[in-house]
Amino acid sequence: MCGIVAYIGDRKAYPILVKGLHRLEYRGYDSAGVAMLNGNLNVYKCKGKVSDLEKFIGDGTTDGTIGIGHTRWATHGVPNDVNAHPHYSESKNLVIIHNGIIENYAAIKAELKKRGHTFLSDTDTEVLIHLIEEIQKNDSLKLGEAVRQALNQVVGAYAIVVMSKSNPDELVAAKKGSPMVIGIGKGEFFIASDATPIVEYTKNVVYLEDEEIAFIPRNGELKIKTIKNRPKTPSVQALELNLEAIEKGGYDHFMLKEIYEQPRSIKDSMRGRLNAEKGIVNLGGIAEYEQKFLNAKRIIFIACGTSWHAGLVGEYLFEDLTRIPVEVEYASEFRYRNPIIYEDDVVIAISQSGETADTLAAIELAKSKGATIVGICNVVGSSIARATHAGSYTHAGPEIGVASTKAFTAQVTVLTLMALRIAQRKGTISSTRFHQLLSELESIPAKIEKVLKLNEQIKTIASKYKDSSNALYLGRGFTFPVALEGALKLKEISYIHAEGYPAAEMKHGPIALIDEEMPVFVIATKGGSYEKVVSNIQEVKARKGKIIAIVSEGDEHVKEMADYTIEIPETDEILVPLVSVVPLQLLSYHVAVMRGCNVDQPRNLAKSVTVE
Ligand code: M6R
Repeated sequence: MCGIVAYIGDRKAYPILVKGLHRLEYRGYDSAGVAMLNGNLNVYKCKGKVSDLEKFIGDGTTDGTIGIGHTRWATHGVPNDVNAHPHYSESKNLVIIHNGIIENYAAIKAELKKRGHTFLSDTDTEVLIHLIEEIQKNDSLKLGEAVRQALNQVVGAYAIVVMSKSNPDELVAAKKGSPMVIGIGKGEFFIASDATPIVEYTKNVVYLEDEEIAFIPRNGELKIKTIKNRPKTPSVQALELNLEAIEKGGYDHFMLKEIYEQPRSIKDSMRGRLNAEKGIVNLGGIAEYEQKFLNAKRIIFIACGTSWHAGLVGEYLFEDLTRIPVEVEYASEFRYRNPIIYEDDVVIAISQSGETADTLAAIELAKSKGATIVGICNVVGSSIARATHAGSYTHAGPEIGVASTKAFTAQVTVLTLMALRIAQRKGTISSTRFHQLLSELESIPAKIEKVLKLNEQIKTIASKYKDSSNALYLGRGFTFPVALEGALKLKEISYIHAEGYPAAEMKHGPIALIDEEMPVFVIATKGGSYEKVVSNIQEVKARKGKIIAIVSEGDEHVKEMADYTIEIPETDEILVPLVSVVPLQLLSYHVAVMRGCNVDQPRNLAKSVTVE
């Protein structure tokens, strides 16, 4: 979603802003802009990519040691040059960049219009900067105070930075619901939506909390207060992020790099938590809350998209291993349907970014009903991580590609560890099975290494189906969520319509779609439902569908029926999602590249969905 970057200090702001905007591109956006202050207040903005903005600026004036930059993901108003940020105030003395949605903007706009304001764009953001300026002028206030008072009038979510032509020595930033981090250098400050634009300049950061406003001087001390005017002491934290982790490292795309990182990222998810030799699973982040799990009558997973698919794997894992009933909820549905939540429910919120607005709102709802909230997040210090009672980070490292890959396997790894730990504590797993699963889990990274070696074969298969209009993905039991995830990966980056189904469900509708044009990707690994899935494959073949089967190594039976088979190392049924999803990720990647799609930043999508 929208990306914010701003700078104040002694250096030239423009190169820092542009580099920062490139770093934030992964979040997804459709237009970009910058404003620099150097006596004049110059705003440049246009529809398209940051590189389009650079071309557009050309030889334009980019002087100034204070500036703000933005990538916009359209909500109010189509993506075009005018709606791009920054936005001027009525007098053009102030500029603003904004991430989030001002829900009551229409009412404020109507009032401002009555008082003579004219608006150039269709955005809610422009309304906010007009309001700030009006408050400032009416009461002759300092900029920060005017921002504070304006924010008390708005309903919605925001991360904003405001810059004033009359005050070249201060930026004012504030946030509610959308993330914002302030990097503290020597006599300089960097402000951004996440740490990626900041990491090479400083490791000292302050994460702004909801309803906090920051007064950021050119030379001097960072001051923070709440929008209710209560002073706060900035809590400076050390950034745990390195530059290599957010660069492509020789890969053509971040997505490919992240697929290949999985043996490492899964090891990182398990590091210090799993010791198969000693038979230990321990998740420090939930240790104090284990009793809540042991007492829980129910576990509810809340998440969106790929993280929801991980939650579905979690359902199979927890029910199988811990015998606690599980529900898996789309956060967006859960929060709006008056759900029944008990105080002894454990709600597990899963999110890569830790910023997904619907998941965050669902957490607040469950919390207000007294449930225990456990987070599984990738981004350290993210809003969801901070909103939960306890949790375990996935430690997958930054995921830049919009299509989630290593985050999914890391989430499933943490869920497996969690389910094993609770099962052991509850006594719902035998010692033999527990030890067997621990060593099998430890061997998963090596098994994924083997799958990655199949890349060329998978690329060849991709070339056969790259021109398909539709695709069906089938799985059963633990591989049903993998089928959903495989379909999501294909549709989101290649724009081929794809659907995932439980294999047996096919004959209740989707079978009507099958003809000689339809590729059907089936996860048919060895396990409880193997024979049933083989029958489903035969049903597809009987209707001339094309079968691409993910099978366990050495499976000759399915090979005879399938058009193509991808053989993956055998593992315990409950761990198959971790291994079987990898060929599907690679397949989608190659199809998308062959179709000339923007793999890392698919159209219309955002990495971190901070609006509901
Ligand atoms: O950051 P989150 O995990 O909360 O994001 C939820 C979804 O937006 C996300 O999983 C999305 O579906 C994936 N990027 C798709 O690959």
